[in-house]
Amino acid sequence: MKETISKTLHYELHDDLSELTQDQVKLIGAASKASTLAYAPYSDFFVGCAILLEDRTVVTASNKENAAFPAGICAERNALNFVSDHHQGKTILKLAVVSKPNRFEMTEPAAPCGICRQVICETEKLQQTDIEIIMASASGKVLIVSDSESILPFHFYLSQLKK
Ligand code: THU
Repeated sequence: MKETISKTLHYELHDDLSELTQDQVKLIGAASKASTLAYAPYSDFFVGCAILLEDRTVVTASNKENAAFPAGICAERNALNFVSDHHQGKTILKLAVVSKPNRFEMTEPAAPCGICRQVICETEKLQQTDIEIIMASASGKVLIVSDSESILPFHFYLSQLKK
């Protein structure tokens, strides 16, 4: 038997920050600032991430590259790993990511890479609540989804590893 199933994707697209909440604007600002700390001599692609925790703490990080390319790490995972180590047990409410390529013009917001989506997804499973993901371009265009499922359907999850 074959089933054909359709899924609907809900997301917000903003041309500017005017209709965002204060928290969302604050996080985009923090992520943008963090992107200036990126170490990205190979790609020239500067990324900043800002995470809002339940106690209102904002954690930021940027991407760090390496001459041995796979040793580099994205801004999102740097920030999520920091939260895991230094803010154990606190729920993440929102995650903003701002991308600023130096070598070309990019007006559309960049979405987290597949590996980062998987890590955001596992974080949601652990904390048992969704994480809003806010993606912004340097020019101020913003794309918002309410959870990682929206950008990573059919994710790999822990129970698939259990016997
Ligand atoms: N990058 C991030 O930091 N986050 C993403 O989600 C996409 C890619 C970084 C990795 C690398 O340093 C550069 O952007 C180009 O891929």
